[in-house]
Amino acid sequence: MQSIEQRLALKLLERENAGNLRKLSIPAHLADFCSNDYLGLAANTTLHQQIQQQYANLQQAQNGSTGSRLISGNSAFAVALEGNLAGIFQAEAALLINSGYAANTAILSAVPQKNDTILYDEYIHASLKEGARLSFANRFSFRHNDCTDLEKKLKKATGEIFIVAESVYSMDGDFAPLTDLLDLCRTYTAHLIWDEAHSTGIWGENGSGLACETNRHPEIFARIYTFGKAMGVHGACIAGSRNLIDYLINFARPFIYTTALPLHSLVSIAEAFQFVQTHAELRTNIHRKIQFFTSELNKYPALKQAWIESHSPIQVIKIGGNLETRQVATQLQQAGFDVRAILSPTVKEGEERLRICLHIYNEDTQISKLVEKLAEIYVQVKK
Ligand SMILES: Cc1ncc(COP(=O)(O)O)c(C=O)c1O
Repeated sequence: MQSIEQRLALKLLERENAGNLRKLSIPAHLADFCSNDYLGLAANTTLHQQIQQQYANLQQAQNGSTGSRLISGNSAFAVALEGNLAGIFQAEAALLINSGYAANTAILSAVPQKNDTILYDEYIHASLKEGARLSFANRFSFRHNDCTDLEKKLKKATGEIFIVAESVYSMDGDFAPLTDLLDLCRTYTAHLIWDEAHSTGIWGENGSGLACETNRHPEIFARIYTFGKAMGVHGACIAGSRNLIDYLINFARPFIYTTALPLHSLVSIAEAFQFVQTHAELRTNIHRKIQFFTSELNKYPALKQAWIESHSPIQVIKIGGNLETRQVATQLQQAGFDVRAILSPTVKEGEERLRICLHIYNEDTQISKLVEKLAEIYVQVKK
């Protein structure tokens, strides 16, 4: 009989043979086109100093939060920060959660009940799918951004209905059709669960995301904001009605049964939002970089054809095939650009791609060179 170690080794071998074995590596000092630090805040020295200063001012020797929020891990600082976040996201209330992953599993595992229906875009993040799996509700996917397919499924849905979508899709960089989704929510009395992980900090007044920018936030049942991407720090929050937040405090297991974020993280979140509020140019700069990248892409029609239209910092070029996609990424890395391949099973077979993340610190010349090199390699690989 196979031992457990043999079984694990066999699974790893299968991955290796399929060309999609995952390995941890220390980032080399290449030009960063893969991190989520779109606004450069993770390494911003001014923000770093402000966080250190603010933390020192608090004069509290608190290395850890000591427990869950419901036991010993709550603080006046956390409560005040939630008030501040509710103000920024123009919601009745907000609840801090340790990460976006935990926030998504929290809301989806706790709110939809048996006989309810969760309808989710096929491309939503793994954490939302995980949350839906933890729920006792029925769950079905609909084709990416396809409201006709969604409506077909809405017609058959039972109980309370929850539609799950992302403002910016993490593997495609495109937007969800918020207006159409809200129209369907109204027609079918459904509730939208809306993940703003990749739009927090990038759109909206003070970085409040796409729902606030388009003023549709009051119609959304629950919004998830994460702080480990453009905000450059760590953590997340759920924004919604006071009633929803009180419900989550009582029933959301990924919130209840975990040690709360430590004070240093809370200070970092507060200072990162303060920084984004006083530096509107960060948002102007990232949108200029996005425009510049797409204008460079226009110079290479073959490459442009493989591009998924996106107006976000996430830009995607479909290559197809794990080996080919990895080959393109490796050649770009050898040329000094840290671009990562997204392989199946993370995306569907045949949809393997390069995911290029743009940052305000990517020089225009660097972006031009990247696109030029990519066009050259793409033609060779596709020959
Ligand atoms: C759309 C989306 N939601 C949630 C998450 C998880 O957020 P966090 O990294 O804070 O756990 C991610 C992270 O990749 C994401 O892309």
